Amino acid sequence: MDLLAIKDVTREDLLVLLSLASEFLGPDGLPHTPSRYRTALSDQSVALMFFEPSTRTRVSFELAALRLGAQPIVVASQGSSLEKGETILDTCQNLEAMGVGAFVIRHPERSLPFLLADRVNVPIINAGNGAGEHPTQALLDAFTLQRTLNLETFEGVTVAIMGDVVHSRVARSGALALSLLGAHVIVAGPPHLLPHDDEQWPVERVSTRSEALGRADAVIMLRIQRERMAENVDIDSYIGDWGIDEHVVESEMKPKGFIMHPGPVIRGVELTSAVADGPRSLILKQAGNGVAVRQAVLLNSFGRV
Ligand code: NCD
Repeated sequence: MDLLAIKDVTREDLLVLLSLASEFLGPDGLPHTPSRYRTALSDQSVALMFFEPSTRTRVSFELAALRLGAQPIVVASQGSSLEKGETILDTCQNLEAMGVGAFVIRHPERSLPFLLADRVNVPIINAGNGAGEHPTQALLDAFTLQRTLNLETFEGVTVAIMGDVVHSRVARSGALALSLLGAHVIVAGPPHLLPHDDEQWPVERVSTRSEALGRADAVIMLRIQRERMAENVDIDSYIGDWGIDEHVVESEMKPKGFIMHPGPVIRGVELTSAVADGPRSLILKQAGNGVAVRQAVLLNSFGRV
């Protein structure tokens, strides 16, 4: 089964994956694979095709494959036949002919995972398609919230997504997934970095940081995605209006509000180091949970649940 976009999944699909992911955490909340799963995919290989920078997402898919007994195969664009002009579709079809069982792909072209899913017969997992979607990040964010807030249901939970929302696939997938699960999603940031009216986002826009933080049980902070924007941002005024330092935590956040970030964090811009490393930060929990969630996604894609 493919995992291309949150816009194509149901609440039930999300709940199944979240529940499966919880099997891959030990009692201490750290990644742990029960012995019955350690060889679950030992007859499988998974191609990891990353055509944009990635550390967390690529490594966590690689670890997820290894911990289920599958062989991860990293296909870099440099040094492969893609440099000779072969298309990604050709590459995938050839790897499929060799018996590769699934493709995890990150690529700037938004339509690529959908095209591959049409033309390749094994599961395609979207690990980020340009400014489109990042479904496994949304799952790991929902999973982290579910566990941290000890949630039976997301009803009544408010999550703010703040910063450069319009260029962010994390924001789009996160807003769709969290609202599908029943949470209330707020977006906040400079007006030109919020989604345009014609895009159907299931979110409430608010115009100040203090309103967003004052209502949020957790805030997902975003990096300014300079690689996806034409205009310049005045960093000092951006930090003043939208950045979070310890004073902002104390004066604007709910007493138990949490801070999340998909990474990479640009320290000193969206978050100061004291806040990124502070007691409310879930950033390293998110990274750890990413492995558990991707184990669930791989097992589900191979139909081994
Ligand atoms: C994000 C991405 O690449 O979409 N990072 C990630 O996957 N952890 C966000 C970003 O690049 O800012």
